Amino acid sequence: MILLALLAQSVTTLSLDFSKPGVAVSPTLYGLMTEEINHSYDGGLYGEQVRNRSFKDHREQAPHWRAVGEGASIALEPTGGINAAMPACLKVKGGAANEGYWGFRIQPGTRYKLSVWAKADRAGSIEASLESADGSKVYTKTTLTGVGSGWSKLEGTLETSRSVPATTDGRLVLKTGADRTTWLGMVSLFGPTFNNRPNGNRPDLMQLLADMKPKFLRFPGGNYLEGSTFKDRFNWKKTLGPIETRPGHQAPWGYRSTDGMGLLEFLEWAEDMGSEPVLGVFAGYVLNGDVIEAGTELSGFVQDALDQVEYITGGPKTKWGAQRVKDGHPKPFPLRYVEVGNEDAFDVSGSYEGRFVQFYDAIKKKYPKIKVISTTGGKDWLGRRFPITARKPDLLDEHYYSSTWEMMAMATQYDAYDRKGPKIFVGEWAAQDVPEPWKDAAKKGPTPNLKCALADAAFMTGMERNSDVVEMACYAPLLVNVNPGGRQWAVNLIGYDALSSFGSPSYYAQKMMMERVGDRTVPVSLSGAPTQSEGGRTLPGIFTSATRDTKSGKVYVKIVNALPTAQEIQFEVKGAKVASSGSITFLSGQLPDVNSIEEPFKVAPKQEAVTGLSGSFRRTVPGYSVSVLELRVNE
Ligand code: AHR
Repeated sequence: MILLALLAQSVTTLSLDFSKPGVAVSPTLYGLMTEEINHSYDGGLYGEQVRNRSFKDHREQAPHWRAVGEGASIALEPTGGINAAMPACLKVKGGAANEGYWGFRIQPGTRYKLSVWAKADRAGSIEASLESADGSKVYTKTTLTGVGSGWSKLEGTLETSRSVPATTDGRLVLKTGADRTTWLGMVSLFGPTFNNRPNGNRPDLMQLLADMKPKFLRFPGGNYLEGSTFKDRFNWKKTLGPIETRPGHQAPWGYRSTDGMGLLEFLEWAEDMGSEPVLGVFAGYVLNGDVIEAGTELSGFVQDALDQVEYITGGPKTKWGAQRVKDGHPKPFPLRYVEVGNEDAFDVSGSYEGRFVQFYDAIKKKYPKIKVISTTGGKDWLGRRFPITARKPDLLDEHYYSSTWEMMAMATQYDAYDRKGPKIFVGEWAAQDVPEPWKDAAKKGPTPNLKCALADAAFMTGMERNSDVVEMACYAPLLVNVNPGGRQWAVNLIGYDALSSFGSPSYYAQKMMMERVGDRTVPVSLSGAPTQSEGGRTLPGIFTSATRDTKSGKVYVKIVNALPTAQEIQFEVKGAKVASSGSITFLSGQLPDVNSIEEPFKVAPKQEAVTGLSGSFRRTVPGYSVSVLELRVNE
C-alpha cells in the first residue's frame, strides 16, 4: 500500500525558464507499435469479418463454421483447394454459417462486400445472408450466381437497411442448395474501411489511432516478427498480392494469421495516419532459440531485408518497387528507420553483434541515410544491457513493461543518459498494475486503469524533457479484442469487440500528450512538491515537463499529479510574457477506474478555458490527474 507523505499545506512552485534554450524536441518522439497479438488484426483492425476464411485454422476440422439447414453437413477437405497457398476447402451440403470473430459487425445502412471462391458438382447459385446468430433475424441477403464445376470467385454486395440494429449478434450464412455438393475455397466479407481502402481497416479503430497523431508506426513486431519457429517468422514476401495467394502463418501468440495485414497494408495503415513506417526486419533469431549465425547463411536474410526496403522505397524500374506498383501503390513510401530484429538480448548464443553488423553494413552501403536500430545495448525491462561495440547503432531500442511504481521512478532515468551515445528508441513500454501480463491474460486486464495512466504520463514527462536523447517512443501492446479468448496480454491500450471500441485511460493520457508536443523543451523545475512513499521508497508526487512551439508561441505544460488530493500550483514564468488566456485539458478519476465497451468514456479528458494568466499565477490540478496547460507566450 502506498503511504502518502504530503507536506502539509505546502504550495508547489512550477518554474518555466524561457531565458534558457531548452533542447530540440524530436519530431518523431511519439508513435505507435503493433504486432499480431490479442487479435489485433484478424478479429481486430483488419476489416475481414469471416473467421477461418480459407479453412486453415485446423487440419481436421473447420472451426468457426457449422452446417445450416435441415440435413445439411460440412466437412473439411485438406486438399483440392483453390491453389497451393489455399490447399484446404470446405465441402458443404445444404448450407454453412460462419460465426465471425466473436460475432459480426452488423450496422444499419451499410454495404458489405462479399466474395466466395466456390465450385459444385452441379451448376447453381448461393444464397448469402447476414443473420442473427440463431438465424431468427435476417438482416440482409443476396444471391451469388455462377457456381460451376471449377473454382471461381463470386462477388456480391450485402446491404442493410437503416432499420437494422447495430449489433455483434450476427453470422454469415451461405445456402448452397440441398440438391448438390458445393466446395468453398475462401470466403471474405468486408464492411466499410478507413479511407475506403480495399482489403483495409476498421474505421472506428483507425480513427482512434489517427487521433493520437502518431509520427510513426513500428511493425511488424515484437515477437510476431521473429515467430515461434523459423517457418513462422514474418516472411514479408508471402504477405503480398491478392489475399487468396497469401498462405498465412502461425502467429507466436497461439493462433493463425491470415496475413491479410501484409507488408503493403502495414505501410498504407501508416500512410493513412500521416505516420512514417519504422520497419523491423527479420534478423536470424527465432523465439525457440534458433539462430542463423552471421555469415553466408545469413546473407540471404540480409538480401531479403534490402529487397524489403526496395519494395517500400524503390521506383518502378526496380524489381521490388515494380512489385509494389503492381500491388497497387505506385508512390514509394518514406523510410528512414530500420530495426534489426526484436529483443535480441534473449539470444543467449551471443550471435546478435555479428548479425547486427552484417545487416548494418549492408543497409548503410545501399541506403546510407537510413537510421539502423539495434535491439540491444540500451537497458531492457529485465535491466540488462548488451552493447554493440563493433558499430555504433543510430538508435538503441529499449523495452519496459514495468509496475506503475517503477515506471514513475523511471521518469528521471533519461536525465543522466550519455548525450554522445546512440539515441534511444523506447520501442515498447507500458506501466502495468498486474504482474506478468503475458500469464493468465484472460483473467486480467484487458486495458490499463487510471493508476497505469498516471505512471505512463509520468514516464512520458521524462522522455519529453530528454527528447534530445529519446528520439522515439511507442507503447505496447496497442490493441486487444476484449472477448473471452481474445487476448494473450493483459494490459493493452485500446479495446474492442466486433462492433465497438474504446480508448483506455492510458490511451487518453497519451493522446493528450501526443497531440501537444512543441519543437523545443522549456526548462522546468518543481519546488516544494509533495512526495509519495511505498515500502520505504520515496518518489515525487508530481511530475512535469514543458515544450513550446517556437512558431506559434504555444506552450504545453504537462503535470501529472499522482497524489489523491488536488494540488495548488504556483506557476512562475521567467524570460517570456504570458498571454492572459489559455486552456487546461485534464484526465482524472479514481486509481482503479477503467473504460470498457459499456462505459467507453468513464475516464476521458475534459477541457476548460483558463483566464487571468501572467508571469506568476496559481492553478489547482485535481487529485490523481494528468493535465496539459496550454499557454501562449511572447519572448
Ligand atoms: O508486446 C508484447 C511482447 O513483449 C512483444 O511481442 C515482445 O517484443 C515483448 O517481449
